[in-house]
Amino acid sequence: MKENTLAPTPGLLRDAAGFLFCGTMKPPKNKQPEKSRDRARDENKKNIAILTAGGDSPGLNAAIRAIGKTALDKGWSVIGFRDGFLGMLEDRWIELKKENLAGILTIGGTVLGTSRLKPHRMETPRGTVDARAKLAATCKRHKLDALVCIGGGGTHKNALRLAEKGIPILTLPKTIDNDVAHTDSSIGYSTAVEIATEAIDRLHSTAHSHHRIILAEIMGHRAGWLALTAGLAGGADVILIPEIPYDVDRIAAAIKRRAARGTKFSIIAVAEGARSIDDTKAYEAAQHAGKTARNDEQKRVAKTVVEKLDADHEDNIFRLARQLNTLTGLESRVTILGYVQRGGTPSYRDRLLATRLGTACVEKIAEGKSGIMVGSDGDRITTTPISKVAGNLKSVPLDHPLIRSARHLGTSLGD
Ligand code: F6P
Repeated sequence: MKENTLAPTPGLLRDAAGFLFCGTMKPPKNKQPEKSRDRARDENKKNIAILTAGGDSPGLNAAIRAIGKTALDKGWSVIGFRDGFLGMLEDRWIELKKENLAGILTIGGTVLGTSRLKPHRMETPRGTVDARAKLAATCKRHKLDALVCIGGGGTHKNALRLAEKGIPILTLPKTIDNDVAHTDSSIGYSTAVEIATEAIDRLHSTAHSHHRIILAEIMGHRAGWLALTAGLAGGADVILIPEIPYDVDRIAAAIKRRAARGTKFSIIAVAEGARSIDDTKAYEAAQHAGKTARNDEQKRVAKTVVEKLDADHEDNIFRLARQLNTLTGLESRVTILGYVQRGGTPSYRDRLLATRLGTACVEKIAEGKSGIMVGSDGDRITTTPISKVAGNLKSVPLDHPLIRSARHLGTSLGD
């Protein structure tokens, strides 16, 4: 199957699977898209490329579709790089036409594929290379007027690195963690909230039947939006997030208070990155040491300590379950929701967010804009320089209305 001759959409899943499968094939040398982009140039129209980078999330295809269809409607030429910056480095791409943008709105994942590689430290079979100049050359060769990168925190840092090399780049925010700054929501977040909320609902009945504590690990390694929102929506009794270091004795006391009232089960929504007060202190000290290191050796040592703390943290939720078992006398169980939260059909909110951001992004390109993230603020579309988004984590503010609601309801936040 040729990369740019994907069939139209008689069966959604089959086509989507075909699309994904193509991404793993070596790209054929194909002159045809080159011609169509030259034609676009002749008519003073634009050539754009799209890529998706970082962890996938539901709604990415809706964004690709919105950008692609809006651009095609203007008579522009659109290509999609495979597998994020890696595919761009290897110049693996497909031309996006009406027929391969059809039928993907409701499909999870990304038909373009993704990767977590960083342009300035790209791991290749020949070792780690700084690929920025090569990526800039790829843009020139394809005569790109704009490169649209759809991604989260890491992608915004990478986009900034490429913008600094002169690539006309625009970004859309995507992450189930919802931790990208300067947008009220990111593509994938709302779907993940629904999935995690449903999981908590289901855990309730079994926890109730067995009089158990069930700890549900919810994604979010640096920000607690997902655990907080799903925890509150699902009526979790305890919600633990990275922004509020917890004290295990206080959690146990909250569970014991419930048990004393006759409610012998509890649901605890635990964000991946939630840490105890002591662990948070140790982690912050190691990160601070890395940031203030005066030489390479100090940097290396600090990095090793952070990596060790991260590795130790991996089974934190199991340690916490054992501690609560001991402290409360109640049986404790752990459920890790994991990648289920990132898969499957996007919610209507994510489809609309992706569609609004994707179409607005093309309007901005038409106006000659680049170096910006196209984000959302309620019904409004916002644009923010990528330099202000990159490296700027959107944490849950401690006075956020959801935090206040949780406290009013008597939900323990572990502090
Ligand atoms: O950033 C999104 C996210 O799903 C995080 O919540 C999670 O910690 C991480 O990605 C997992 O990354 P990976 O896909 O590389 O395992």
